[in-house]
Amino acid sequence: MKDFNMQTTPKRYTITAALPYTNGPVHIGHLAGVYVPADIYARYQRLQNKDVVFVCGSDEHGVPITIKAKKEGITPQEVVDKYHAIIKKSFEDFGISFDNYSRTSADVHHKTASAFFKKLYEEGKFIEEVTKQLYDEEANQFLADRFVVGTCPKCGFEESYGDQCENCGTSHNATDLINPKSALTGNKPILKETRHWFLPLDQYEGFLKEWILKEHKKDWKSNVYGQCKSWIDDGLRARAVTRDLDWGIPVPVEGAEGKVLYVWFDAPIGYISATKEWAEREGKDWKPYWKDEDSKLLHFIGKDNIVFHCIIFPSMLKAEGSYVLPDNVPANEFLNLEGNKISTSKNWAVWLHEYLEEFPNQQDVLRYVLTANAPETKDNDFTWADFQARNNNELVAIFGNFINRVVVLTNKYYDGTVPEASAFSEVDKQTLKELQAYPAVIASSIERYRFREAQQELMNVARLGNKYLADEEPWKKIKTDEARTKTIMYVALQIASALSVLSEPFLPFTSEKLKSILSFSNLDSQLVWDDVHSKTELLKPGHQIGKSELLFSKIEEDQIQKQLDKLEASKKANEAMNKTVEPEKETIQFDDFTKLDMRVGTIIEAEKMPKTKKLLVLKVDTGIDVRTIVSGIAESYKAEEVIGKKVTVLVNLAPRKLRGVESQGMILMTETAEGKLAFVNPDIDGVQNGESIS
Ligand code: 2FM
Ligand code: ZN
Repeated sequence: MKDFNMQTTPKRYTITAALPYTNGPVHIGHLAGVYVPADIYARYQRLQNKDVVFVCGSDEHGVPITIKAKKEGITPQEVVDKYHAIIKKSFEDFGISFDNYSRTSADVHHKTASAFFKKLYEEGKFIEEVTKQLYDEEANQFLADRFVVGTCPKCGFEESYGDQCENCGTSHNATDLINPKSALTGNKPILKETRHWFLPLDQYEGFLKEWILKEHKKDWKSNVYGQCKSWIDDGLRARAVTRDLDWGIPVPVEGAEGKVLYVWFDAPIGYISATKEWAEREGKDWKPYWKDEDSKLLHFIGKDNIVFHCIIFPSMLKAEGSYVLPDNVPANEFLNLEGNKISTSKNWAVWLHEYLEEFPNQQDVLRYVLTANAPETKDNDFTWADFQARNNNELVAIFGNFINRVVVLTNKYYDGTVPEASAFSEVDKQTLKELQAYPAVIASSIERYRFREAQQELMNVARLGNKYLADEEPWKKIKTDEARTKTIMYVALQIASALSVLSEPFLPFTSEKLKSILSFSNLDSQLVWDDVHSKTELLKPGHQIGKSELLFSKIEEDQIQKQLDKLEASKKANEAMNKTVEPEKETIQFDDFTKLDMRVGTIIEAEKMPKTKKLLVLKVDTGIDVRTIVSGIAESYKAEEVIGKKVTVLVNLAPRKLRGVESQGMILMTETAEGKLAFVNPDIDGVQNGESIS
């Protein structure tokens, strides 16, 4: 076990990113909170020539998967196969540079998690107990975790799950819920006896106090440290690590048939399994990454996972005894979308696979905006207006503009050859000195998990370049002083090269494109982070660069409007879904009904009523006559769309004037889930205009 008082320079980095549940695709909240920061960190350490393993994988067990399977009428295996492929592809598409993206259904994981459990079991680290658990008599099933909802004993939230409250983050036992209800049938559960294995967290209180509160964790983020402290201060209780479920890793001991490991017992072990799988593939030894004291273990997660990574998993590792403990758990808060909580069930999200359909090859724009707005210390908001502004005003106007000017001018003046510098002016020297300081400045922010700050500093490198060109004006000097122009362009090209290296962790696709424009493949050796500081010359005179290509392009208003419309449609669909169905109206007599004369009609002409938003003036063939009807459907249909439509017309409604036009009847409409009006459609083969509806 690692001595946590020892501060050594890490020899290797074991970087993990939370295993996403495989019951849906991933969205911008996932990317902003966990995967982009983890990727920036991993890429940066690799550029520092550090020994890094960066692992993740699909979390394929647990109740959310079985609930999804039930909803879709497919098997849990089919659910995880489907979403594992989608999620894996999204991560690849966004350049998340995992050394291994595994899955918890993998054989290596089943074996690793079983062996871990077995060791703790054999060493008597669990308490085995028959306790009363919630049971749904109709579904014939114990109600673990998300199979049960009820009121959170801590914050009073009425929709808390059995194992965790999404409102206050508290992790509890299902029996702690007030007024529990089965998520399967809505029934009130009974209590039924069942045998389970518990990790006695109370026995680890001393260790956790020492490890987190006293010794080591001064450098943890205050949100993480605060949650841990409150947990420990509240007193820890034994937690069941097994469940009565038929989906998961079977409990590997006798007498445990029909039971599986709790998903939060097996999932973090997935980090170890993923490392093993990677090592096997690469011909390496996985053990040093998890067992040597000079390895730095880091868990990148969202705030809802803090207790599992800072209290429960470390207690499991401590109980096992041969593993290092996490050095840091840089958890982020949540990202909201246009002012509302991201929600899968409400489709209030920007899904990564959909983003790429709308903004192909613009992964770096999203990475950039999510880092600029990362919810590092508090929940933050993603808005499409901000996305557009940051792209147009920062990536295009600052970064892209600088590179474009340097590359275009180098091609124009010197056919793309890096010119020779002559005597440096004071401004040149100062600029190059400032440039050389940036690797340390950006590194210091990254190493403290302040990725927003780090990225701002990266943009300051581009600003430095823009200011230098604006002040030195090579486009004017070229007319009077060739030698001076060469020196200016030489300095500008050094800044462009530095940007290509320093941007790699944040904007990997842009960095690659820029390296290709600058023909980095023709350099003797590839540049790494510290070269920007230590080498006085990144591109030598005589080096030939390529032609200019745009790194970023302007995002237009209509692209943004399309995204906002999509969200508006989700909002309307949700409102419609939650709309209370009006109670039945007062009973009427048959005679009242027969007073209504409803006929099949066809719209034969239509035009928008001038100066109104909602009204169309229609000519309708009712079979009896052709008459004018003014209808409030213009927000759902254009005039030309409705011509020829068969409709239901109430023909004996007393005429009334609307905006000066007499309306002689009414067309029957209903409303779709998206809030669009739709015709009550009598378009049935053989039915003629004038046919009565009764
Ligand atoms: O919150 C989640 O999506 C979990 N599936 C995270 C698991 S992280 C780890 F421990 F595996
Ligand atoms: Zn709560």
